[in-house]
Amino acid sequence: MSELQNLEASSLTEIGDCDDLEKLERLRTVVFGKNGRFTKIVKKLCDLSEEQKSKFGSEINSVKKVIENKFSEKFVKLEAYELNKKLEAEFVDITMPALPELSGKIHPLTKVEEEVMDIFSSYGFTFADGPDIESEYFNFTALNVPDHHPARTMHDTFYVHKLADAEGRKLLRTHTSPVEIHTMLANKPPIRFFSIGRVYRSDYDVTHTPMFSQIEGIMIDENVGFADLKWVISDFLKKFFQLKDLQIRFRPSFFPFTEPSAEVDINYEIKGGKIFFGAGDKWMEVAGCGVLHPNVLKSGKVDSEKYRGIAFGFGLERLASLKYGIPDLRGYFESDIRWRETFGFSHFVR
Ligand code: DAH
Repeated sequence: MSELQNLEASSLTEIGDCDDLEKLERLRTVVFGKNGRFTKIVKKLCDLSEEQKSKFGSEINSVKKVIENKFSEKFVKLEAYELNKKLEAEFVDITMPALPELSGKIHPLTKVEEEVMDIFSSYGFTFADGPDIESEYFNFTALNVPDHHPARTMHDTFYVHKLADAEGRKLLRTHTSPVEIHTMLANKPPIRFFSIGRVYRSDYDVTHTPMFSQIEGIMIDENVGFADLKWVISDFLKKFFQLKDLQIRFRPSFFPFTEPSAEVDINYEIKGGKIFFGAGDKWMEVAGCGVLHPNVLKSGKVDSEKYRGIAFGFGLERLASLKYGIPDLRGYFESDIRWRETFGFSHFVR
């Protein structure tokens, strides 16, 4: 077998065996490259006579054509094969259902805060805010809370700074009632405001957390009294719980800042392990309230001879839990996304 026939046979076999495009290109260089097997044979033409040259030349040309055709044929095959492989790997099943997307939920406190705001604004109350870090004066003294009151102890309250200034030590407010004093100092009567904000106490169990939220309301005018207080609170609770027949009980109580003072209860019953408000003869406490003590009006620089005030405070989480059946108070503040998925509200239902 001549050298040329050998080359043809081996090239055709190698091309046939080749299984990827890159190898095929390398093989092409091995055969037809500058120092390729085929090129080496062509170079030998120089040493031949004219006659041999033309014979050998046409033989060379036909072998070249055969090998080149085989290369082209294989190239087309491999290209198609590799394209198919790529398409298969990149296959997207457009009939597959989409992955569920976490859309986020509105926190129950935000929802309830908006509901409360709606109702109090409808009575002409405006919103007022106060600082989370208060002085002993605004949190206690101005509210007629005596020096020896247990709420003032380190055990019950988070003191921010041991050093005291003219207003006493600084602390995380234990209730939103100090906002009453700030509002009285900043406004002239008649005054009608409400506030919603965080408050802090050293407590932690299923029904107590070191931080929670309160709603505070105050109304000051020449002729306000307990009857106004009863109406505002009763109407608010009926609207909030969306229960016309909700029964509301004002139970005598004591707060240093109000005289008389009362705690507010709503009626409920438990049926089949579920709680129902506005039915039954059990009572659940939801608020504290009263007619402002003259000392509190004085702290707010309000003429206590001419004006009287009524005030009330609700726990926001308690209202939210009762209305929407949220069991453990601690869930509100633990930032567990699963809790919010369970108890949160969709953005589209408002
Ligand atoms: N500040 C009271 C508390 O945290 C709640 C309260 C009771 C607020 C009576 C009031 C009120 O405005 O009049 O327990």
